Amino acid sequence: MRKAAALIHAGGLVAFPTETVYGLGAAINDPEAIKKIFTVKSRPAANPLIVHIAHPDQFGEVAAAVPETARRLAGCFWPGPLSLVLPRAPEVSPLVSAGLSTVAIRMPDHPVALALIAAAKVPVAAPSANLSGRPSPTSARHVLEDLAGKIEAVLDGGPCPVGVESTVLDLSGARPVILRPGAITPEELAAVLGSTPVMAFAHAGNASPRPGMKFRHYAPRSRLYLITGPPGRRHRLAVRLTRYFCSRGLPAAHFNPAEFGFLSRKEPSRLAHSFYAALRSYDQAGIRIILAEEIPSCGVGATIMNRLRLAATRVLHA
Ligand code: TXA
Ligand code: MG
Repeated sequence: MRKAAALIHAGGLVAFPTETVYGLGAAINDPEAIKKIFTVKSRPAANPLIVHIAHPDQFGEVAAAVPETARRLAGCFWPGPLSLVLPRAPEVSPLVSAGLSTVAIRMPDHPVALALIAAAKVPVAAPSANLSGRPSPTSARHVLEDLAGKIEAVLDGGPCPVGVESTVLDLSGARPVILRPGAITPEELAAVLGSTPVMAFAHAGNASPRPGMKFRHYAPRSRLYLITGPPGRRHRLAVRLTRYFCSRGLPAAHFNPAEFGFLSRKEPSRLAHSFYAALRSYDQAGIRIILAEEIPSCGVGATIMNRLRLAATRVLHA
């Protein structure tokens, strides 16, 4: 941990496990290191980073003002997969939040992440440790698949327990707004806030995505067709298309969530754990087309559906 903190102090990039996905960390007070994060990930310069802290007391080092709602949510969900967007403290480099006047902050629930941030003695800016557009990494091997040779180190803490990213909640306006659905569900937030937060992300409800949201995200190299509709019909279409593509010499795979631990409708969190690993495994196996079935949008299932829609090259309704 001392070595990792020394690398961060020397301007290096260190990948580390969190409970959600692996992050790619740099000191928030090192503009050159922050720039390097964008370069090695090929991340669009307009996409801000999340600042990771080791203790709620560090809130004040990063946010210009901490409203009571933020303290209450942090009290309930930290350490944990909730990122809070608040006005940015002037000491935090604007590079961290892509020039915005706000900053996203979270305290991760992982002993390795917390030890690294504590050892670095400074909050750590960290996006997911993947190449931009690829599925997020949930193991050290995934990090190296994307970034070997481009970063100083990865701390191997084994597979991430949660497996999907934090929920990003904007508290900088008049009403709380979910900017990215994640591991903490709207229902859980509503229980603390007293009302359901506004949803303002791509594919919220049935609204067509805004133009900037149309690019693929969280995506494997293979093409991904998302198949929606009633369970029996979508299953039959997925099976039929998989056979069709294979018969044409195109390696295709039927992504049936049940095969990846989604055995009970009540347990989407078990699918979340292996979701990104599953997407990456198709690339490893040389699959060219994934026929992915819709899953029920209850609990974390809604977050996985958000990721599937953003990863999809096409959506077919059975
Ligand atoms: O679980 C996670 O959140 C992981 C781990 C490593 O903590 N991190 C992660 O970071 O997923 P990244 O960079 O892949 O996603 C950060 C998200 C992006 O959707 C970004 O647009 C949003 O947070 N974000 C960050 N700062 C923001 C801000 N000031 N205002 C609005 N959105 C912000
Ligand atoms: Mg990411």
